[in-house]
Amino acid sequence: MNNFTFYSPTYFAFGKGEEQRAGQLVKRFGGSRVLLHYGGGSAVRTGLLDRVKRSLEENGVSFTQLGGVQPNPRSGLVYEGIELCRRENVDFVLAVGGGSVIDSAKAIAAGTIYEGDFWEFYQGKSVEKALPVGTVLTIAAAGSEGSPDSVITREDGMLKRGASGEALRPVFSILNPALTQTLSPYQTACGITDMMAHLFERYFTTTKEVEVTDRMIEGLLLALIHEGPRAVADPDNYEARANLMWAGMMAHNNSCGVGRNQDWASHDIEHELSALYDCAHGAGLAVVFPAWMKYVYKKDVMRFAQVAVRVWGCSMDFANPESTALAGIAAFEHFLTSIGMPTRLSGLGAREEDIGKLAHTACYGNGRQGHIGGFVCLQQQDVEQIYRLAL
Ligand code: NZQ
Ligand code: ZN
Repeated sequence: MNNFTFYSPTYFAFGKGEEQRAGQLVKRFGGSRVLLHYGGGSAVRTGLLDRVKRSLEENGVSFTQLGGVQPNPRSGLVYEGIELCRRENVDFVLAVGGGSVIDSAKAIAAGTIYEGDFWEFYQGKSVEKALPVGTVLTIAAAGSEGSPDSVITREDGMLKRGASGEALRPVFSILNPALTQTLSPYQTACGITDMMAHLFERYFTTTKEVEVTDRMIEGLLLALIHEGPRAVADPDNYEARANLMWAGMMAHNNSCGVGRNQDWASHDIEHELSALYDCAHGAGLAVVFPAWMKYVYKKDVMRFAQVAVRVWGCSMDFANPESTALAGIAAFEHFLTSIGMPTRLSGLGAREEDIGKLAHTACYGNGRQGHIGGFVCLQQQDVEQIYRLAL
């Protein structure tokens, strides 16, 4: 196991009705003038936004609002939010929504107190300081409610990139699983896929002897395989929603990723798809991840065979472990199809003629050095092959 530090100070309030504590928690974490940030309408339609506003008012917290965050959040709204926060002397950003709203809130929180252009953080500069961010989560998926990351798309060139820094971890996150019952089966499945992807990005590692985190990841994958289809089939199943919601946080706050190197090429390859075609991040991952697995499994056949046996219930073929590894990948792909995810580029509206450009941007765009991936180092021609495996 590698050396690591792990500091994850987010306060979680989990369960039915917890959003009523929003105002109290903002105060507890030092906020007095809040930017209330939300998305394209679901939080308004369900009455959630009104409940949060009431809670702020009851606690004497003043607020200004900025809605309209779209999935794959854009830099334009971030600049607008930064201006607004400076003008209104905002000291706390409260995100009400999914990963897109939370990521936009984090970008605004960092940009408001930074003298330069906030996009520098998305070109590799670490975020050292930001206004405190709180969240009221409405979808189990990205894990931004507990992560130190934010992903934003710059309209100029449609570049989708991530920023990171401990200052971006939310100071509190309110997780009420009942709020996710209004999600469509498709969005629910996108979320499940993203959570699985966050686990696989960490599972495929070159670090040896990481049994504890291996077992944590396998346990979470097994839980997702059990609970995911229950929530897709019955959106009102509170218990399934509750398990998914906590799994999403656990999958990405890095408690399962400490002490080991991680891959993340599939995320980089996917981000090009959601930047260019504006598809849901989870759907893009359903297309990319099985293709990535088929391309790289020979790097460590036994690790792929291990997950096939422990998670997908395949029997180990000791004479031919490669067949076990491939059976695990097939089981993953079958699971994705069973919850309604596309596993081919055509399912995202992606075009074969764009592959060269997608692979080039993944490896070189925004200052990248020509390679991606920590488990297997991929060059542009490898990335092209992975997109082709998904045709
Ligand atoms: O805008 P509204 O109307 O709320 O609609 C959203 C949106 O259309 C809808 N939705 C959310 N909660 C709902 C709901 N509809 C009905 N009922 C509810 N309770 O769902 C749609 C998707 O929302 P979004 O926030 O985009 O989903 P998600 O949480 O999957 O976030 C995706 C973004 O997170 C990034 C992705 O790249 C993508 O941009 N990621 C962020 C990470 C991080 N910060 O740590 C890590 C991830 O790997 C990921 O890259
Ligand atoms: Zn993701």
